[in-house]
Amino acid sequence: MDVFRVNGGRPLRGTIQVSGAKNAVLPIFAAALLTDEAVTIRNVPNLSDVRFMAEIMRHLGAEVSADAPGTWTIRARTLDNRAPYDLVRKMRASVCLMGPLVARLRSAIVSLPGGCVIGPRPIDLHLKGFAALGCGVSIESGYVHLDGRHLRGADVFLGGRHGSTALGTANILMAAVLAPGRTRIESAACEPEIVDLCRLLVAMGAKISGIGSHALEIEGVERLHGATHTVIPDRIEAGTFLLAGAITGGDITVEGARGDHLAALLDKLRETGVPFETVGPETLRVRADRPHRRVPTDIVTMPHPGFATDLQAQMSALLAVTPGLSIVTEKVFPNRFMHVPELQRMGADIAIEGPSAIIKGSDRLSGAPVMASDLRASAALVLAALAAHGESWIQRVYHIDRGYDRVDERLRALGADIERLPAEAMPRHLVGE
Ligand code: EPZ
Repeated sequence: MDVFRVNGGRPLRGTIQVSGAKNAVLPIFAAALLTDEAVTIRNVPNLSDVRFMAEIMRHLGAEVSADAPGTWTIRARTLDNRAPYDLVRKMRASVCLMGPLVARLRSAIVSLPGGCVIGPRPIDLHLKGFAALGCGVSIESGYVHLDGRHLRGADVFLGGRHGSTALGTANILMAAVLAPGRTRIESAACEPEIVDLCRLLVAMGAKISGIGSHALEIEGVERLHGATHTVIPDRIEAGTFLLAGAITGGDITVEGARGDHLAALLDKLRETGVPFETVGPETLRVRADRPHRRVPTDIVTMPHPGFATDLQAQMSALLAVTPGLSIVTEKVFPNRFMHVPELQRMGADIAIEGPSAIIKGSDRLSGAPVMASDLRASAALVLAALAAHGESWIQRVYHIDRGYDRVDERLRALGADIERLPAEAMPRHLVGE
């Protein structure tokens, strides 16, 4: 296991290119199973989660190959219907294989994913959707058994207590495109990643309307054909890099940062007084090197177009060094505060009250040894370490490699003093208990 050693307190400067969106490419890979023809996907990020999804799909019988950097071709001539626990448990996003397997084979046996550190990750809405489409749904020994012999279009309401479900929408969408008849999904997720999935499905011959809205209408078709698709840029990575500029008082141009995907973040950056400019439709530039006074704010995470839960930890790191009282409320994953105890080790003054973090911002953090726990909490720790005075050691950085490609190299190119080292390099007296 590697660690990051970071010497903070240096403003970052330069230009960075955003990778393809992880949360688009995972369901998009799954969608390629809906046809026996070749599907080529471009702008695929170089991430462990992507490699892992490819491994599961090969296990199911698909041919999955990386032809050139960022370009993958998938061809599922034959498929098995069973996704085993030892594969699914390592990446819960693999639950989105259920939809394509049911659509293509009329049968799926997929392990229940289990939870993760950001909270229980139920799939009750996914199963409610499959049942609405006429599937037999049963759970036996930790596996979901879906019998799709009577799959047909239907009206489905997919809203849950925390709003819409991104992968739930992807699953039901991918079952519906090959289900005889018409399907209407109410309270569908309209995250840009789901829009991107719809774009691929339409390119493969699916009939979908209402794309980008909370109401999707699908007219089932007999079969889908191959296609070529370029994945959208990763709005969460883009937001993370904008926040890296903000927290270090730097000047970073983020290429691939789409203002239409980041409206809620930009609204909050504006509110807190972080100077930034729109350079083009897919380029934003944060100018925190300019004199500005930052003020506290309040954040409530919600499904898109609300403030993205995947940017909450990173924004909380910025608010920890924004003098004044800020309140961050998690409405999507109420327990998503694993970054807080680690930020407190760096001197952050944060109190958790139920689904809210009350942040008393100070003007500085100090470097410390901290432990990464999940993907976005790790990103928050990197941002805090870049801003902190002194040296930080971040342990278990494999969490961050799941969602950010070579983040240490790319931050170093912006002037950050960050290096990846083997865990043994960490001074013994600093190693976490
Ligand atoms: C996707 O997860 C993303 N992952 C997550 O990003 C992201 O945090 C999440 O959407 C919310 O935007 C991928 O796309 C691979 P949900 P997903 O179903 O689809 C509850 C990251 O850091 N819910 O939209 O699994 C659920 O518990 C990852 O990149 C049910 O109650 O999330 C949560 O509270 C982390 N029942 C809320 O809905 C269900 O059947 C939203 O979850 C499904 C979900």
